[in-house]
Amino acid sequence: MYRVLYRKWRPQTFADVVGQEHITSTLAHEVESGKVSHAYLFTGSRGTGKTTCAKILAKAANCLNPVDGNPCNECSVCKGLDDGTILDVIEIDAASNNGVDNIRDLREEANYTPVHTKYRVYIIDEVHMLSIGAFNALLKTLEEPPAHVKFILATTEVHKLPATILSRCQRFDFHRITPENISSRLRYVAECENIELEDDAAILISRIADGAMRDALSILDRCSGITNHVTTDVVSNAAGLAGKDYLFDLVENINNNNPAEVLSIVAKLHNDSCDMERLCTELINHYRNLMIIKTVKNPQKLIVCTDLDLELYKKQADKTTLFKILSCITTLEECAAMLKSSSNKRTQMEMSVIKLCIPDMSGDNTAILARIERLENMLKGGKITVGAKQENTEKEKPVETKAEEKKEEIPLPPPPPETESPAAADTSTDTDTLFTGWGEVLEKLNVTDKPLLGILGTSSAYIRGDFLLIKCDNPVFSQFIRQGSHANAIKIAVYEVTGKKFRLGIYKSEESKAIKNDPLADLVSKINNL
Ligand SMILES: Nc1ncnc2c1ncn2[C@@H]1O[C@H](COP(=O)(O)OP(=O)(O)O)[C@@H](O)[C@H]1O
Ligand SMILES: [Mg+2]
Ligand SMILES: [Zn+2]
Repeated sequence: MYRVLYRKWRPQTFADVVGQEHITSTLAHEVESGKVSHAYLFTGSRGTGKTTCAKILAKAANCLNPVDGNPCNECSVCKGLDDGTILDVIEIDAASNNGVDNIRDLREEANYTPVHTKYRVYIIDEVHMLSIGAFNALLKTLEEPPAHVKFILATTEVHKLPATILSRCQRFDFHRITPENISSRLRYVAECENIELEDDAAILISRIADGAMRDALSILDRCSGITNHVTTDVVSNAAGLAGKDYLFDLVENINNNNPAEVLSIVAKLHNDSCDMERLCTELINHYRNLMIIKTVKNPQKLIVCTDLDLELYKKQADKTTLFKILSCITTLEECAAMLKSSSNKRTQMEMSVIKLCIPDMSGDNTAILARIERLENMLKGGKITVGAKQENTEKEKPVETKAEEKKEEIPLPPPPPETESPAAADTSTDTDTLFTGWGEVLEKLNVTDKPLLGILGTSSAYIRGDFLLIKCDNPVFSQFIRQGSHANAIKIAVYEVTGKKFRLGIYKSEESKAIKNDPLADLVSKINNL
């Protein structure tokens, strides 16, 4: 029968345990000197040897001929514990036995002396999962355990344990295992298993494993299932590092401020059943790698990827600023938090990637700093003159959006004569009436065009003749409305609310008119035009 590598290669003596010498030497010494405590607490991240050491300790404490504090693995007790004929070492998974009753049963049983061994040992794994009642019940036993009972509690989340439990145990903190220790153990296991493991591949696995020996052995297992000759490519495929081109594509388009393309990549991933929370985490990790490259001279130690990918990361990092990277990570972290409770994860993700493409969208300090930085650069480059206002005025004319032409969707009435156009009428506001149905229109857009709704957050609308003029402070609105079917979505919604077919325009605020009428501005403009 095939046994997975990490089970098959569970260390059987303290000497076999890698990278936890600060713990194993103390434990072996305690066994040797007969000073085994009544309660231990093993903490540390997963796959670092907690359960393994608990088993070794339980065996060593009961072994008939311990060798330097290690179990002999030969005597009747060691063998009986290994093959399950002796039942005095009891492993309890607190995740599934977390109630008061479970602990009461344990206390009852603990009163009987063991049959074949000196000590009955309870190994309680994931002990932080116990209920409060169960902790209290356990506390009583920990305070005055029968002489023949030992406890070994193990947990990855020590901060969840009550102080009363902590104070009654001898605590050992397991460290993440270093990549060097992991790769040498991997090479040893591979040799015994006749797996050809290249050195680079062993190092790559050890970095992916992030300190967990169990994960490292699982990856080696997967690789050896594919081929007996394990290279970095094989590792990269088996561990799911490869095939992340879409992350490079997304970031490329984010750097180029191209929301349309980014949305279409997200749409494709969504159609391929990609989980949005995972995508968000992957993007954060991608940006983290770019951040490390921007800040550290020799980033390869801190980044888990193949040499080939490292080059791609470096190229991408060259094309952006650390400032932008940090701001993207902030936005994505917010997105990750929102995704947990969001009922429409795709929309949440879309809103966030739009923010990444258009940094001005986010209202936080980084966005404001980015805008100031841009203004400063423009000032330095002498690009800002009052004359530039001309360009803005141009932009704020009602846009005949592309969707206007899609007459098959909503037939539009013939355009009004030139003089009636809102651009020409922009000095008179008497003809504008606030459009009171705008809230209803937004509600409809909430269903038909969520990204647009995100941009229209604080907007209002006015009616001027045939035109519906939208007033929106968001700087990207005018650009956004020209893309895709957004304008049409608005028109349909307006039609549904009013029963009338309006043409769309952008409302020019009073302030911008005021600036235009400012005599000083006129003067400066004239000077600029000299
Ligand atoms: N320090 C270590 N040295 C050698 N192998 C280890 C070590 N830690 C974990 N392993 C490997 O990982 C597997 C799972 O380890 P385990 O002790 O169950 O981890 P946990 O800390 O999650 O309880 C073991 O069977 C063994 O193969
Ligand atoms: Mg464990
Ligand atoms: Zn023994």
